[in-house]
Amino acid sequence: MCGIVGYIGPADAKHILLDGLRKLEYRGYDSAGLAIQQAGELAIRKRQGKIDRLAGELDLAPVEGMVGIGHTRWATHGAPSDDNAHPHVDCAGRMAVVHNGIIENYLALRESLEGRGHQFRSETDTEVFAHLIESHYAGDLYAAVVAALREVVGSYALVVMSLDAPDTLIAARQHSPLILGHGEQEQFIASDVPAVLAYTRKVTYLQNGEVAVLNRDGVRITRLDGTEVSRDISIVAWDAAAAEKGGYKHFMLKEINEQPTALEETLRGRISEDGAQITLPGLKLSPAQLSAISRVLIIACGTAYHAGLVGKYAIEQLARLPVEIDVASELRYRDPIIDEGTLAIVISQSGETADTQAGLHEARDKGAHVLAVTNVVGSSVDRDADSVLYTYAGPEIAVASTKAYTTQLMVMYLTALYLAQERGTMPDEARIQLIDAVRRIPSQTQTILEGQEAIHSLADRFDEIHSSLFLGRGVNFPTALEGALKLKEISYIHAEGYAAGEMKHGPIALITPQCPTVAVAVPGGVYDKMLSNIKEVKARAGHVIAVGAEGDGELHKYADDVIRIPRTVELFTPVLAAVPLQLLAYYCADNLGMDIDQPRNLAKSVTVE
Ligand code: M6R
Repeated sequence: MCGIVGYIGPADAKHILLDGLRKLEYRGYDSAGLAIQQAGELAIRKRQGKIDRLAGELDLAPVEGMVGIGHTRWATHGAPSDDNAHPHVDCAGRMAVVHNGIIENYLALRESLEGRGHQFRSETDTEVFAHLIESHYAGDLYAAVVAALREVVGSYALVVMSLDAPDTLIAARQHSPLILGHGEQEQFIASDVPAVLAYTRKVTYLQNGEVAVLNRDGVRITRLDGTEVSRDISIVAWDAAAAEKGGYKHFMLKEINEQPTALEETLRGRISEDGAQITLPGLKLSPAQLSAISRVLIIACGTAYHAGLVGKYAIEQLARLPVEIDVASELRYRDPIIDEGTLAIVISQSGETADTQAGLHEARDKGAHVLAVTNVVGSSVDRDADSVLYTYAGPEIAVASTKAYTTQLMVMYLTALYLAQERGTMPDEARIQLIDAVRRIPSQTQTILEGQEAIHSLADRFDEIHSSLFLGRGVNFPTALEGALKLKEISYIHAEGYAAGEMKHGPIALITPQCPTVAVAVPGGVYDKMLSNIKEVKARAGHVIAVGAEGDGELHKYADDVIRIPRTVELFTPVLAAVPLQLLAYYCADNLGMDIDQPRNLAKSVTVE
């Protein structure tokens, strides 16, 4: 997730671009840059770091012009650096591009372009666009952009500016957002509304597969085949603060609702076109190294640890490797047994958690191959690991982790399926069925989100509650832990996550009508056991809210309330079950008027021991 801004009009472009980038900094903030047409040249300024560093650079080397594009980056290909910052230019330095998204076939395109003499200056996938458009350019910028887009596989929001078409900006969208803002003799383009709100409330939302040509006096939109598109202009009613959160009240709610896209991005390019193979180029293990792995050790903290617990189930079940998992703050003090046959998987959204980093170093120093699963390219764990798999969730601003968690789960499933595939531990047909189920998860998540009002109503029951229990078994024991963590960290209601079978060894004493139980009871090997546990709670006058599958005709006979999730294979239910529990926690905390995005005593990234 990056932020894009473009401007064409009579005003000082630099001022508008910088202002817009600041409004989009929540979309990414590891580097920023802009390109402005100045006296017949493209003036490019870009800097690693926050937008203030770019502003400082512009003070030292000012630029002036009325047409320009800008970008604030959240790295996906290539670490944060001045060279990798956008805009990127073609060989002639006459055209500049900014991009948000992931180009899946960029390596093949880059090799082909380099073979034809194009000189690359960065490690990004984006730079391919600049050279590809240059290679197609024969006097018509629109035609060259469309030809380039036809060769690209992946997601993009793209804006192109060229000295050969000085009164034009060209933009295109495929799976990454772009809006057009319309003023008097001036046009804007941006990833999101906040970037243009100070100048206009008239916007057009570009759709997938569309290309927009912007001139000072208007915009023309076509599809890739050249068909003209006519679209009504929308008037934005939100204020600036709401606009930054996409109209949501809190970042947490926005991020919960971003999960279908985040999951889709995390899957992108990792499943072969025929749906039969998992490809994980980030996992740098040769076939010999893969077969030499004798065990897996997972290291993480908090929510990431819960993702690791699900990973243990997935890897053991599919790849038949023994998996040990440790809370990172404990691992370092117990002299763990780690050797060259160990694959250590370190999970961290931020990539900066101090205990997780210490665990990574311990595992690496003892000879393990370290695989980092992180959301932040260029973070400490990214730099220090042997292999890296990114969760493409985009920046997570709310302290309570939501979209990072479900994308971590997705990476765990992909890793387990990949290890199974490479080690030959499951029949091809069974793997293909699971891959098919994995691919449906983003749209199933969307289905759950469409029913969120029902969960909002359930949350009203928690207004008078001071304590709660979350129960799950098997692969959904971690779901119970995560559901409880979400509730307690943002609502400050005590919540205990427990393995349902353990309840009678202690926590059953907590049950009263005022201590509700949330029970994850989805179809699978432990379903009947969960029903028994629910009955045990009901027998003690407890109130049960169950998370169950669509079409389950039994559950409502035992539970007081049932939240339904779409059916999937049992192993993948934790992703879907997590979403209603996030919503439940959110609405409980909101009913109580809590500071949801920044709960008391907590920090987004715990960089001290
Ligand atoms: O950045 P990390 O994934 O390493 O962070 C780990 C935990 O601090 C984090 O998951 C924390 O538990 C969240 N606030 C939970 O919502």
